[in-house]
Amino acid sequence: MPAMSAVEAAFCRSAPWRAVARRTILPWALQGVEPYGEVLELGSGSGAMAEGVARSFPSARLTVTDVDLAMVSAAARLLAGLENVRVDRADATALPYPDGSFDLVTSYLMMHHVVDWRRGLEEVARVLRPGGTFVGYDLTDTLIARAVHVVDRSPHLLLRPDDLRRQLRAAGFVGVTVRVGFARTVARFLAHRSAP
Ligand SMILES: C[S@@+](CC[C@H](N)C(=O)[O-])C[C@H]1O[C@@H](n2cnc3c(N)ncnc32)[C@H](O)[C@@H]1O
Repeated sequence: MPAMSAVEAAFCRSAPWRAVARRTILPWALQGVEPYGEVLELGSGSGAMAEGVARSFPSARLTVTDVDLAMVSAAARLLAGLENVRVDRADATALPYPDGSFDLVTSYLMMHHVVDWRRGLEEVARVLRPGGTFVGYDLTDTLIARAVHVVDRSPHLLLRPDDLRRQLRAAGFVGVTVRVGFARTVARFLAHRSAP
């Protein structure tokens, strides 16, 4: 079940993207959060970010997921041998995990491909423990991002920062921050699952 065009999928698996993702984007996207406990990564693509997390935070236990079987296979190959990592196929809108299973959920550049990303936020809230953290970043709804995705033909629904803030709160998150950057083309988010 590919969720992106062949071109975008190949880009996400490419060596240059993996290197930039792991070395440069990962620390920026984590915003000071140090992965701990049970960590779920959504839409991991080739697993580049997961590799960085697994090596830098060896005490964290990672569940690395993607809906696309080709991506799951690529991540499983890249992450083979890392003992604190398991790789699953999972759709972010219907996660196959019990309520409250994770301390931290991460999502890097993937929510805009989950067309029903609002449902995805509800699933993140469900699988997080009370007080758990959701962190990551995504593209915002700009003319250039729209043009790229129309040409590329990947399914998408780009995020508007205000809407993302609102939907995070509606899904039960507190301490929500959404910070836009790079000429308003990307948004980093950080939020915590409220206690019952
Ligand atoms: C642009 S790539 C980003 C990959 C990776 N997070 C990174 O930063 O390199 C988006 C990923 O989201 C995945 N994806 C799209 N829809 C999804 C869904 N509903 N559930 C889980 N993964 C999904 C795609 O298969 C793809 O691997």
